[in-house]
Amino acid sequence: MGQLLAITRAVSPAIARCELTHLSRVPIDPDKAAAQHADYERALERMGCAVRRIAAGQDLPDSVFIEDAAVVLDEVAIVTRPGAESRRAEAPGVAEALEPYRPLLVLEPPGTLDGGDVLVVGRSMFIGTSRRTNLAGIEQMRHIAAPLGYAVRPVSVRGCLHLKSAVTSIDDQTLLVNRAWAPLEELRGFKFLDVDPGEPSAANIVRVGTRLLYSASFPRTRARIERRGFDVTAVDVSELAKAEGAVTCCSLIFEESDCLSAA
Ligand code: GLY
Repeated sequence: MGQLLAITRAVSPAIARCELTHLSRVPIDPDKAAAQHADYERALERMGCAVRRIAAGQDLPDSVFIEDAAVVLDEVAIVTRPGAESRRAEAPGVAEALEPYRPLLVLEPPGTLDGGDVLVVGRSMFIGTSRRTNLAGIEQMRHIAAPLGYAVRPVSVRGCLHLKSAVTSIDDQTLLVNRAWAPLEELRGFKFLDVDPGEPSAANIVRVGTRLLYSASFPRTRARIERRGFDVTAVDVSELAKAEGAVTCCSLIFEESDCLSAA
């Protein structure tokens, strides 16, 4: 495997004005959120990523959740059109950061799609039909990804913000899932590991090569994952979670490749 890059975005001083869909608004301390974000970045570095942090969007409250603004495949990067109007201005800064690494494609109106709704496992691309991602957005993704060999599979998300609130992968065969939020029949072909019933938000985990980065808030689900033999690093992201963000949201991780020079 080549060098893994993690693109992150600094916490905005405006984070307390973030979008909230399933959570009630509580005070968020931007300094504490920034300190937790820095710990998260250090964990990524220890796990083998080169971290490149782009500047905060001063008036873009949710911009730390950089995953929603782009989907990076081995072949191309797709700059999204986020479902929340307040988040659309995040895209240009993220596009600029990705330009050195991948050919860029851009989703167009009327499509909307948040990267948090896109789960790529091998050549399967699951896309959540959520409040943020519409059918036009999914069709544009299919138009881009299917010719590259990805099987695009819509998944109906209910009760949570994004598909990756409900399901992520821990390896190429196994999905960590809250089955109350995503129907298993739409994820067929994989093995499932259920979150602990007392930890409904625990299905979001980051793969870094063969290692996993996870929130420290879910010790019981973490024990389930570790019993399967996985190496899990836990970080405290509780202040960022108040803004309805999770560990996958805070980075775009991909392998540095020479696909630009090969194009
Ligand atoms: N606050 C995260 C989001 O709603 O996009």
